[in-house]
Amino acid sequence: MGALGIQGHIAKGDFVLITAASSSVGIAAIEIAKAEGAISIATTRTSKKKAELISLGADHVIATEEEDLVARVRGITAGKGARIVFDPVAGPGLEALAQAAAPSGIIFEYGALSMAPTPFPLFSALRKHLTIKGYTLFEWSAIRRSSPRRSSMSWSGSSLAHSSRGLTGRFRWIRLLKRTGIWSRTRRSVRSSSRCETSVCNHLNRVRWLRFALSPNGSTGIQWFDMSTIAAHLSEEALDLIFRKARTFYAWKPEPVSDATLHQIYDLYKFGPTSFNTSPARIVFVRTPEAKARLLPALMPLNVEKARTAPVTAIIAYDTEFYEKLPKLVPHMDARGFFAGNAPLIQETAFRNGTLQGAYFIIAARAVGLDCGPMSGFDAAKVNAEFFPDGKWKTNFVCNLGHGDASNQHPRAPRLDFEEACTVL
Ligand SMILES: Cc1cc2nc3c(=O)[nH]c(=O)nc-3n(C[C@H](O)[C@H](O)[C@H](O)COP(=O)(O)O)c2cc1C
Repeated sequence: MGALGIQGHIAKGDFVLITAASSSVGIAAIEIAKAEGAISIATTRTSKKKAELISLGADHVIATEEEDLVARVRGITAGKGARIVFDPVAGPGLEALAQAAAPSGIIFEYGALSMAPTPFPLFSALRKHLTIKGYTLFEWSAIRRSSPRRSSMSWSGSSLAHSSRGLTGRFRWIRLLKRTGIWSRTRRSVRSSSRCETSVCNHLNRVRWLRFALSPNGSTGIQWFDMSTIAAHLSEEALDLIFRKARTFYAWKPEPVSDATLHQIYDLYKFGPTSFNTSPARIVFVRTPEAKARLLPALMPLNVEKARTAPVTAIIAYDTEFYEKLPKLVPHMDARGFFAGNAPLIQETAFRNGTLQGAYFIIAARAVGLDCGPMSGFDAAKVNAEFFPDGKWKTNFVCNLGHGDASNQHPRAPRLDFEEACTVL
C-alpha cells in the first residue's frame, strides 16, 4: 500500500508487474491493483500456479521459467511496459524487470529473495528515466519525516500529490483493504504462514493495519499493527521539524515557493479545529514585486527587508462575515443565524479562530518543509485599507514564507518551564 498507493500513485489503467505474486504480499498487491482499476501482471516460476493467480484476480500471469518475461510484458502492454514493478526477488532478474518497465516507470525492490548480487540496470534506467527504489515498511515513518524537498528528488513524482495524500491516503488504503477483503483473507494467511514473522494485534475496536516487514533472511512477513498508535505519534524528526528545531526566519534563500506548495499548506491547515467549524481565516499570498510594493509601506522599518526578500508574505486575515459561509461549513444546523447581527460575538469568534488558524498555518508550512517568519510589526489600518478596502476582512498578522537563511540567526531564546506556564489541577 505504501509502495503502490502512496509512492507509486497507482491509478486506473496502470500496468503493474508483480513478481513472486503468489506470496501473501503479492496477492495483496494484485487485489490492490484490481481495486484501483490497474492491470496486474503477476509472475510465478512455473505455470503450476497460473490458474490460482488468475482466480485471485491477476489479469495476466507469466511463468518466468517457461516464458520470456520482457516479451510477454511488452505484448500485454502493447509495447508500453509496466509503469509500476513490485519485486521482492531482486538479484540478476532486476535487469529483465527494468527492460519490462515503462518509460519513467518505478520499480520497488521490497525484498532480496534471490540473495544473489543485484547489478544496477544502468542502460534501461538511463534510457527510460526509471526510478528504482528500495521499499520496506519502515519507510512509513520516513514518509512522515521527509521534507517535500527531499522526497520530490527521490521519487521523481509530484511531491504535492504524495505529501498531501499522507495520512488521509493511509486511511483510504485501510478502507480499500476492507473493501477488497484482503483485511480478513490476509489475516488467515498470517495465521497459516510459517514464513511470516507476525504478531496479530487484537485491538478489535481500533483501526488495524497490515504490516509487510522484511526479515533479516530476506523473507517477507506480515504483521498487524494498530493504526491508532501510528496516527497518534509523529516521529522525533517530525517533531523537530515543526517544533523543536523550527526557528523564526528573517532572511531567505532565493528559492521560490510554488503555488502547489501554497495549496499544500492550505490543504493541511484547513483541518485544524475552529469553533463551530467557522474557519474564519482568510489569506492573501503576496508574492509578486508589485504586490509586495503595496504591502511594504505598511510594515515597521525593521520588517521591510524581511518581507521584501521573502519568496512569499502571507497576510493572515479574518473574515468578519465568516458566518455567510456557515451554511456550507455547518450544514447540519442554522449556525449563520447564531452569529448574524451579533457584532461582539462575530469579532471574538473571527479573531480567536482566525488566530488559531494562523498558528495551524505556521505548523502546516513547517510540516511541508518551509520556514516561517511571522510578523505583527505593521500598521494594520494601512494593510486593511490597501488590501481589504471593503472592510470585510481584517489583517491579523503577516507571515513570511520560504526557505530560511540561517547564516545570521541569533541563538534561540529560552522558553518558560512547564511549572511557569502550566498548572495541573
Ligand atoms: C504573531 C507574531 C508576530 C511577530 N512579529 C514580529 C515582528 O514584527 N518582527 C520580527 O522581527 N519578529 C516578529 N515575530 C517573531 C518572534 O519574535 C519569534 O517568532 C519568536 O521570538 C520565536 O523565535 P524562534 O522561533 O526563533 O524561537 C513575531 C512572531 C509572531 C508569532
